Amino acid sequence: MAGHILAVDQGTTSTRAILFTAALDVVAVAQKEFPQHFPEPGWVEHDPEDLWATTIATVNEVLARADLKASDVAALGITNQRETTVVWDRQTGRAIHNAIVWQDRRTAERCAELKVQGAEELVSARTGLIVDSYFSGTKIAWILDQVPGARDRAERGELAFGTVDSFLLWRMTGGAVHATDATNASRSMIYDIAKGAYDPELMRLVGVPEAVLPEVRDSSCDFGTTLPHLFGGAIRVCGIAGDQQAAVVGQACFRPGMMKVTYGTGAFALLNIGETPVASRNRLLTTVAYQLNGRRTYALEGAIFVAGAAVQWLRDGLGIIKTASETQALAEAADPGQDVYLVPAFVGLGAPYWDSEARGMLTGITRGTGRAEIARAALESVGYQTHDLYTAMRADWPTDESAVLRVDGGMVASDWAMQFLADMLGAPVDRPVIAETTALGAAYLAGLEAGLCPPPDQFGRGWKLDRRFTPSELDGDRARKLDGWHRAVARARSGGG
Ligand code: G3P
Repeated sequence: MAGHILAVDQGTTSTRAILFTAALDVVAVAQKEFPQHFPEPGWVEHDPEDLWATTIATVNEVLARADLKASDVAALGITNQRETTVVWDRQTGRAIHNAIVWQDRRTAERCAELKVQGAEELVSARTGLIVDSYFSGTKIAWILDQVPGARDRAERGELAFGTVDSFLLWRMTGGAVHATDATNASRSMIYDIAKGAYDPELMRLVGVPEAVLPEVRDSSCDFGTTLPHLFGGAIRVCGIAGDQQAAVVGQACFRPGMMKVTYGTGAFALLNIGETPVASRNRLLTTVAYQLNGRRTYALEGAIFVAGAAVQWLRDGLGIIKTASETQALAEAADPGQDVYLVPAFVGLGAPYWDSEARGMLTGITRGTGRAEIARAALESVGYQTHDLYTAMRADWPTDESAVLRVDGGMVASDWAMQFLADMLGAPVDRPVIAETTALGAAYLAGLEAGLCPPPDQFGRGWKLDRRFTPSELDGDRARKLDGWHRAVARARSGGG
């Protein structure tokens, strides 16, 4: 049964392996969670051995579940939590420090210094990013400076850096391939996205020696072959993309103006802006959406830090629900006369506010407020935050009126939340049949290189709609609700009252 495609989705809280047919239908899924480490407030680490072990285990498990062998798999695609940084010893293959996770704020001070040195303009002009500890550049420098002897060893070429894709690839190929793809490179704060090359000036400024960096390749290309003993036979690695970019591909957002939002713990919106990078005037990021045949397609990106996490908070923090799915019925039962707003700025606010000192706020509570109104406010907060991103994106890059938003991730199961989203955007929201868009994107990129999948246009025509949510007629109400939200956000912000 040759001709299957395997996707490894190495995410922030779990690793998944998903097996597809050549026609990209899901055959089997395996998933394993791994521990999170918080050594100090604001620090988040993963043990690279956990990332590796869960990858090997889930791939072997998914093959066993589907009763298939490595020889049945024509191509493997890797998609990954982005920015998370691993530095390892080229000789032993062992990491010299835990992986520093994208959420980790330990280099915030270093980033503040870089801003004082005036780096912001240069960083944004060349990389499309802002100066922030979110990205991998300052995390690499931190490891090289904090682990004794590491900087010298790095200069001598003894150490290698990679985001998780690159680390897994290096291990899978037995150290034969040290590479990444352009989407992952574009999150390093040292990569010139217009030129498609690391920038020597930024490398000096941030403190990253060239000798540690992986080679940057297309998102769909030959990345080498896995060691035979890992999966009971060799498998070709044919695709790599950061998880949010893989979702752009999985959602077939191949035309400029097409946008996707993935709702997980947080939410990431990416708008395809075509082959010319456009700088944001509204505090969004410009990033590589994918690179095929040496040609880069760019996206504007905005991140919401708390989306599904607001519902988790209702469950684990407040204890007012037992399962996330209860929120829909509660929202429907909530008193429409109560204007309760939840600003879930638990870890500050992301785009377009970028206010790390903002903190959460619940406004408009009266004696009649109960768990239904709070649950509704949590679902609504996701719609409002998406509205703010959508507005910023449309201001940066006006799209035609018929442009739609494609959504995926856990929260899109709620019809109520998706209808509210369409109402707030005043634009249609499309939910696809296949919810596994991130893995699908990685599988497609691998299948494209292996000659199993059709070119992007044709793949895009196969994208199937589950349901379109069209905005209801509630113009006055919409403006009033958005106004209430923005007043609540102003109060939650660090400069707010
Ligand atoms: O930029 C971080 C993002 O890639 C993390 O995605 O799905 O692992 O939370 P996820």
